[in-house]
Amino acid sequence: MPVIVLVGAQWGDEGKGKATDLLGDRLDYVVKFNGGNNAGHTVVIKGEKYALHLLPSGILTPGVTPVIGNGVVVDLAVLFQEIDGLEARGIDTSRLRISANAHVIPSYNRSLDKVSERYLGARRIGTTGRGIGPTYADKMNRMGVRIQDLFDESILRQKVEAALSFKNQVLSKIYNRQAVKPEDVVKELLSYVDRLRPYVGDTALELSEALDAGKVVLCEAGQATLLDVDHGTYPFVTSSNATAGGACTGSGIPPTRIDRVVAVLKAFTSRVGEGPFPTELHDKFGDYLREVGHEYGTTTGRPRRIGWLDLVIGRYAQRINGVTDFALTKLDNYDGLDEIPVCVAYDVNGVRHDEMPINQTDFHHAIPIFETLPGWKQDISGCRTFEDLPKDAQHFVEFVEQRLGARVSIVGVGPGREAVIERHSVLGDA
Ligand code: IMP
Repeated sequence: MPVIVLVGAQWGDEGKGKATDLLGDRLDYVVKFNGGNNAGHTVVIKGEKYALHLLPSGILTPGVTPVIGNGVVVDLAVLFQEIDGLEARGIDTSRLRISANAHVIPSYNRSLDKVSERYLGARRIGTTGRGIGPTYADKMNRMGVRIQDLFDESILRQKVEAALSFKNQVLSKIYNRQAVKPEDVVKELLSYVDRLRPYVGDTALELSEALDAGKVVLCEAGQATLLDVDHGTYPFVTSSNATAGGACTGSGIPPTRIDRVVAVLKAFTSRVGEGPFPTELHDKFGDYLREVGHEYGTTTGRPRRIGWLDLVIGRYAQRINGVTDFALTKLDNYDGLDEIPVCVAYDVNGVRHDEMPINQTDFHHAIPIFETLPGWKQDISGCRTFEDLPKDAQHFVEFVEQRLGARVSIVGVGPGREAVIERHSVLGDA
């Protein structure tokens, strides 16, 4: 019966794949409810690294049914590349389910994403260039193409023609690109139909029946709280709802069925792309954390921007998502530091802010107010219980927990799937 929602508390790349993986054998379904192949989960299993962009990370766990919900935008070429890549490594992907209502990313939206970023120049968002924004814009504009449309050739043709009658004007007249032939797009999309058919269904109904049958469902967000189109640092956000509310709209699971919300919070902060970042580091500590944490984009390979842990953001994530449990990841990345500054509030033009400023300009001007905690200067990657951690590391976790207002149930202490401390079961009494 339980539904657990898993979200990122910061700007993404907090290590959600690891939390999913930890819960793996206790789950029956893992649902991706937003985003597309802009995401990047890296999961390490038995020393093998798996980088997934579109498929829910639950696909790696035998017995789990992975679901691509209606809130996702699907690049079909990427979908089948990932499926083929996993099959080649002996991973069974036949359980995958895809919502008939999920939207497809047509090739023209990839082109539009890239050219519009170039056009924006210094005002660019720093998108992943995967066509995510234009595809969600089409959905809201009611000119999107859904997975189900691929099974009705005449509808598909009508929809692609309608979209291109507008988009070709934009491509050719604004961006000086060649117009796209509707027939080419239709042909490409139809080429996937036979392979797609066995995966597609009414996933909202399937999930409802699974819950009635007592199954355990994890809804896994792509991106993270501050990249949410409504609650993030707009306009430097992705184009979907990456917060807990998005789990309902993006999967068809109603709010009344959600039991727990787990937010993954990295022990420091990272961000890719443009936009404000109060605790950003431009010194040797930033370089150090980027290197020890291997902080390079899974999707684009871009070096991530790095900053100290920001608990104003952490509390915001707690409030917006209704977090019941935090997973604090990469605590071991601090093993080499003498002391660790943690941002507890902001100074905005001389005024202390304990909560996220509502005004975009204030957030751009926020100067972090730090409290500095002692480091522990020892390797914690072998610790498996809270008591195994050095006292200063325990203190760090307790400090964070107290400031966040929700328990820290999981602590990540290394890259492997086993390098984790589970203080409380997030399935708990649900
Ligand atoms: P888009 O999602 O490609 O439109 O990019 C919008 C913003 O979200 C950019 O700043 C991206 O770098 C960021 N973004 C998108 N997906 C992820 C992710 O999985 N992790 C971190 N940042 C992301």
